Amino acid sequence: MKIDILTLFPEMFAPLEHSIVGKAKEKGLLDINYHNFREHAEKARHVDDEPYGGGQGMLLRAQPIFDTIEQIDAKNPRVILLDPAGRTFDQSYAEELAQEEELIFICGHYEGYDERIKTLVTDEISLGDFVLTGGELAAMTMVDATVRLIPEVIGKEVSHRDDSFSSGLLEYPQYTRPYDFRGMLVPDVLMSGHHENIRKWRLEESLRKTYKRRPDLLEHYNFTEEEALLFEKIKEESLN
Ligand SMILES: C[S@@+](CC[C@H](N)C(=O)[O-])C[C@H]1O[C@@H](n2cnc3c(N)ncnc32)[C@H](O)[C@@H]1O
Repeated sequence: MKIDILTLFPEMFAPLEHSIVGKAKEKGLLDINYHNFREHAEKARHVDDEPYGGGQGMLLRAQPIFDTIEQIDAKNPRVILLDPAGRTFDQSYAEELAQEEELIFICGHYEGYDERIKTLVTDEISLGDFVLTGGELAAMTMVDATVRLIPEVIGKEVSHRDDSFSSGLLEYPQYTRPYDFRGMLVPDVLMSGHHENIRKWRLEESLRKTYKRRPDLLEHYNFTEEEALLFEKIKEESLN
């Protein structure tokens, strides 16, 4: 995958040199290029200007963004504008982006953008219902969540199949050694070596956790017959 990031602060992306994203770069699975669009600004490197009609703050000018995008070598990229008014990023969005070969992220700053910049983009994405000072932290989060879904990046594809949200449910509780930690024991079923019972327990715990913490996720969830039965049991239990 090739990722091009338009930003006034390329140095903010240092965290992407580490951990799984850094390793993906080392393995040649990922190529990330940073473009400081100040270098493409005409008018004494001015990237921002006052809004027409008055108002507070400065807006990013269209010219530096247009000129920077036009010199990026990409055939059919998804061009993503980071914007709190965009569609909210989530796991299914990350899965969608992981299928792409070329992504371009445009990180805003100041009070926002000249609206004409939006004619360049395919997606406007928000990290959530809050306002950051710039798009860099949002872009980094999205790159991280997307890159780990590229086959070969994590190793086995199964590593993220059970992740929270991938299946539509939250992940079940997990334990590692020791069996007894300060009197807190690992559930017996996980020690039994009985794969089918372990699978069922995990499914039930996933459903239980999702019902307790994120019932909204279950509103459009497609239950299998087995899940529907377990879910009825969980709901009944919660009434008692
Ligand atoms: C201070 S914000 C501008 C907010 C803008 N005045 C508004 O009310 O929508 C500057 C930039 O940070 C980025 N940004 C802020 N919050 C964001 C969020 N929740 N998701 C994605 N990007 C965000 C965007 O690139 C935005 O243009």
